[in-house]
Amino acid sequence: MAATVSDILLDWYERHARNLPWRAPPGAPAPEPYRVWLSEVMLQQTTVAAVKPYFAAFTERWPDVEALAAAPEADVMAAWAGLGYYSRARNLVKCARAVAGLGGFPKTEAALRELPGLGAYTAAAVAAIAFGERAVVVDANVERVVARLFAIDEPLPGARKAIRARADEITPDDRAGDFAQAMMDLGSGICSARDPKCLLCPLAEICAGRRTGDPARLPVKAPKKARPLRQGRAFWIEREGAVWLVRREGTGMLGGMRALPDDGWSARGDGSGGPEGEPLGLVRHGFTHFDLELSVARHHAPLGEGEWWSLDTLDDAGLPTLFAKAARLALA
Ligand code: ADE
Repeated sequence: MAATVSDILLDWYERHARNLPWRAPPGAPAPEPYRVWLSEVMLQQTTVAAVKPYFAAFTERWPDVEALAAAPEADVMAAWAGLGYYSRARNLVKCARAVAGLGGFPKTEAALRELPGLGAYTAAAVAAIAFGERAVVVDANVERVVARLFAIDEPLPGARKAIRARADEITPDDRAGDFAQAMMDLGSGICSARDPKCLLCPLAEICAGRRTGDPARLPVKAPKKARPLRQGRAFWIEREGAVWLVRREGTGMLGGMRALPDDGWSARGDGSGGPEGEPLGLVRHGFTHFDLELSVARHHAPLGEGEWWSLDTLDDAGLPTLFAKAARLALA
């Protein structure tokens, strides 16, 4: 079956590959490793539609890894604002500096894996897509396609080992990058989570999941834990057309990002901390492991170390989505 799956899929990819700004067309020479790496980091836990404008802005402002390596971390964090999972931006800068120090990207999965802040998935994806190495690339789309193709009905996350072994079996020696992206395209467009379009699928004939009659059931997921609700307070402090912004500390939640001052909800927070203030309303925001209800209050004196930021240029402050929502509420 090994040769068959990749032959069928690569043939399908020739005709149906998505045209994306970080990609080379099927069979064409590989894109620059910088663009592959940047896009793969951005695409983790983030949709193609959300990534596109960020990818365009980053590559315009920092056209190569040396330019990104020379950028102040704060500028990169601000440019990342809105994309979420901000540790990715911090790691991006670390990794860019290491790559620039080496004089370019290492060309193997093993050597890529040695770079700071570059995980197993990204190393495999860059090795396959930018350097044509036979690497096994498994993201959530690939996971779903493989679980269905082989009717693996062990629940996630336990099934990951079996899924990876099967993905390894079907990965071809040549064109591993095209193959990985073909799997991603199949997973996102056809073998979709809730509504697999088996009638359009090039692998339908050989798909064990389809033969079970209910491919949408796969991959089986462990029941979701309810996400806890946390509460916090943030402060809108405005004076003469400017608002008081702080920079969040270190490597914790939203670490390194500009923000409104708050009551420390991310560390402890029961929604009652911080000084008095005139209530302006509530914003809700979903993080990976909890939902946050942030009550926004007007306060009159600066809190913590920060800076006055002109309201006219607030869009350039690089506020993460939570605080951008709070600012919109305060300005409404
Ligand atoms: N998701 C992760 N990597 C991707 C890629 N190269 N193309 C499309 N979607 C992706």
